[in-house]
Amino acid sequence: MEIRTVGVVGAGLMGAGIVEQAAKSGFDVVMREIDDETLAAGRKRVEASTAKAVEREKLSEEVREAALKRITGTTDLEEMAGCDLVVEAIVENRDAKQEVFRQLDRVTRSEAILTSNTSSVSITALAAATERPDKVAGAHFFNPVPVMKLVELVRGLQTSEGTMTTLREFGAALGKKVVVAKDTPGFIVNYLLVPYLLDAVRMVENGTATAEDIDTGITLGLNHPMGPITLLDYVGIDTTLYIADVMYEEFRDSKYAAPPLLRAMVRARFNGARKPGNGGFYDYLAGR
Ligand SMILES: NC(=O)c1ccc[n+]([C@@H]2O[C@H](COP(=O)([O-])OP(=O)(O)OC[C@H]3O[C@@H](n4cnc5c(N)ncnc54)[C@H](O)[C@@H]3O)[C@@H](O)[C@H]2O)c1
Repeated sequence: MEIRTVGVVGAGLMGAGIVEQAAKSGFDVVMREIDDETLAAGRKRVEASTAKAVEREKLSEEVREAALKRITGTTDLEEMAGCDLVVEAIVENRDAKQEVFRQLDRVTRSEAILTSNTSSVSITALAAATERPDKVAGAHFFNPVPVMKLVELVRGLQTSEGTMTTLREFGAALGKKVVVAKDTPGFIVNYLLVPYLLDAVRMVENGTATAEDIDTGITLGLNHPMGPITLLDYVGIDTTLYIADVMYEEFRDSKYAAPPLLRAMVRARFNGARKPGNGGFYDYLAGR
């Protein structure tokens, strides 16, 4: 199936990045938000990010202008009617996502492919909200979308081979490297990342080493670009806790059990360095 028009539901941090990447790659894009204010904020994100790319000479002004012209903003989900493929990137909440999939199933053509950028909600559960479970899959992008080279495709219990083939081509057209996982909590990357982050928090909790030394150990000892505590502050402590809880709920394996310090941090609104609240681990540990 040929993809020409891509719908993106939710234009927050991830959605706006997906809109940008699809428009730059030549797709017509319909971007949907819940109200005019968040829609304008989404468009601003795309404008600012592409302007920065021009400034850094990663993008020409002509390509930027053409990309921005390909984006249509709307608050009306019915405008997804002409989309060949939709990426849902709303808040990480299963009920809200299922409701969007129910509506998308109603408003889009029956052959359109519906995907979710979810990090932890079951793709099979989202597919079950539709009459086309064979055309539902996960398309898990990484932050920031225009920069990160990977997309994890997630095959739900009933996703068809044809859907996966189209999605592989779509991922490649976006300039991403595609990997495929079955619908298991964490897919590939978070399955390995989350227990590692939880262990790093346990080390801080137990006083095994300081956060700085844990981060230095990993950056210099393993040549990672950042250590686990810095990474937690970057991706969000609240987000990590949410994903860990979903994984624990599914696997009932103690390696996914969130350490009390992680939960306490979220209760005290230390959600991460880039999130609303009191800041991240380094702010808490410095007594800020
Ligand atoms: N932040 C990350 O690093 C990251 C990485 C990979 C995947 N994800 C996943 O991407 C999704 C979005 O995360 P985010 O960080 O961009 O969140 P975000 O809070 O920045 O954006 C979510 C946006 O969705 C909008 N929204 C909510 N309900 C909507 C609806 N019914 N229709 C249209 N828009 C709606 C909100 O107004 C908001 O702008 C989540 O499922 C998350 O798990 C996030």
